[in-house]
Amino acid sequence: MKKVAIFTSGGDAPGMNACIRAVVRGGIYHGLDMYGIVRGYSGMISGDIKKMDSRSVSNIVQRGGTVLKSARSMEFMTPEGRKKAYDTLMSHGIDGLIAIGGNGTFTGAEVFFNEYQIPTVGCPGTIDNDLYGTDYTIGFDTAVNTSLEAIDKIRDTADSHDRVFFIEVMGRDSGYIAIQSGIGGGAEIVMVPETHTPLKKVISTLKDGWKRSKSSSIVVVAEGDEEGHAPEIAEKIKKQVGDKLDIRVTTLGHIQRGGGPTAYDRILASRLGLGAIEGLINGEKNVMAGIVNNNLVYTPFIDTIQRPKPIHEDLLRMVHILSI
Ligand code: F6P
Repeated sequence: MKKVAIFTSGGDAPGMNACIRAVVRGGIYHGLDMYGIVRGYSGMISGDIKKMDSRSVSNIVQRGGTVLKSARSMEFMTPEGRKKAYDTLMSHGIDGLIAIGGNGTFTGAEVFFNEYQIPTVGCPGTIDNDLYGTDYTIGFDTAVNTSLEAIDKIRDTADSHDRVFFIEVMGRDSGYIAIQSGIGGGAEIVMVPETHTPLKKVISTLKDGWKRSKSSSIVVVAEGDEEGHAPEIAEKIKKQVGDKLDIRVTTLGHIQRGGGPTAYDRILASRLGLGAIEGLINGEKNVMAGIVNNNLVYTPFIDTIQRPKPIHEDLLRMVHILSI
């Protein structure tokens, strides 16, 4: 293996830059020529590929976003698009790939590998923490801390006005951000896609809290909850309780994807980036590098995509007990 290209794809996540830096410098350390593909699979198709040296990744370990930019490519989902991508990679002499991203990125990588067999190793980069094969994904810790900061601020005003706030955090299919920021922020209720929280239960918990002299309540809602988005849930509850509860809604949105990565994310990203490039050099292919119980492991893409990563029951139980 001589020439390896790296790309970021799907939703960006804080720490992706630290990961790019580790992959590029790790590859150069081991004598490889390193390339960066701009805008993920789209750049692979259009040929937006550039040589990367050690200095090209200077001063990025602390920066949010991704210097290689990111995209979700519809064209890569077609056989014609993937053929174009393969031809482009061949014209640059690329013989190995490092993919940083989430579920969609590895679904693409799995299909591409089965068709063209270019050895590929992935790094889990998504704020959602919804990938099997790693305890934590790059960006998750930063996103939780960002949400937590917002929840703390909302708690101040909620308390001053004796209000109930529904705060929506990201997580289309996963409640990891919701549960962690909910526990950290002392939320009264956390609603996640993994388990159903009936509105009746939400109302009774809020009313009980009031009876126990609570002056404010926070309900953290993951965007993928089956009862709907936070504004919708709040509306339904308002209809049932009338003016008994003073309800407000805040949607945190993409603020959770930005900002400089936490120390935890920088270190995780560096470890995974180096682990991915060294794995590729040692013959790993079609796998994602992850950290499980503090050990570097490689998990087949197919498992990272298909196997569930449930939220630990203890965490949900804890929200209830700790908010009495
Ligand atoms: O996958 C990460 C994520 O932030 C999800 O939590 C969210 O649903 C989605 O990306 C939003 O993505 P975008 O607005 O970039 O399409």
